[in-house]
Amino acid sequence: MKSHERLLLENKAWAEEKKLREPDFFERLAADQKPEFLWIGCADSRVPADIIVNAEPGEIFAHRNIANQVIATDFNSLSVIQYAVQVLKVQHIIVCGHYNCGGVKAALDRQRPDLVLLNKWLMHIKDIYRMHRAEIDALDTSVEKANRLVELNVIEQVRRLSHTSIVQTAWKNDQRPMLHGWVYGLDDGVLQQLVTLPAGSDVDVIYQQYDVDGF
Ligand code: CO
Repeated sequence: MKSHERLLLENKAWAEEKKLREPDFFERLAADQKPEFLWIGCADSRVPADIIVNAEPGEIFAHRNIANQVIATDFNSLSVIQYAVQVLKVQHIIVCGHYNCGGVKAALDRQRPDLVLLNKWLMHIKDIYRMHRAEIDALDTSVEKANRLVELNVIEQVRRLSHTSIVQTAWKNDQRPMLHGWVYGLDDGVLQQLVTLPAGSDVDVIYQQYDVDGF
């Protein structure tokens, strides 16, 4: 059997099992979604959002990209964030990084000439390294350096969420969502919390939105 055929077969078995356990499972889900969480994670195949937190379909609205970044000019992630916050009205946004992240490790190296687009995506992580260079360079091994940058990257992405007008408006009008930064250990499967920003947390003044009436 070809490998992609295995996926189709597995899907058939999965759908049948779901229907057996709960006959109206798909009808119920098809009617609407009301997820409480937006997940922004790494595209890495070893960090599947729903599986590592044992979530069911319908629980987590998700966006994944290389090294779980929130970039102010990336309409893909911003569209997901806007829809999740303004339409689905999620209560929590979780940015989840993971140790030994290939994207973060690559950002600590020189640019590969064959990966022209990816280099641009990783520039933003090089910037985070530059902001924390003294702290990272003081660590002994390349593994420790990369893993600390993984953590700092998650914290920075949470902060960037708080810089968006989408989050600031929802914080002001609706006292949600709460922002979370988590990191996942590939070697033990465990999530750790790095940072939590409740609605109304301080935002650096240069990132604050003016009120509608001017100031
Ligand atoms: Co990764």
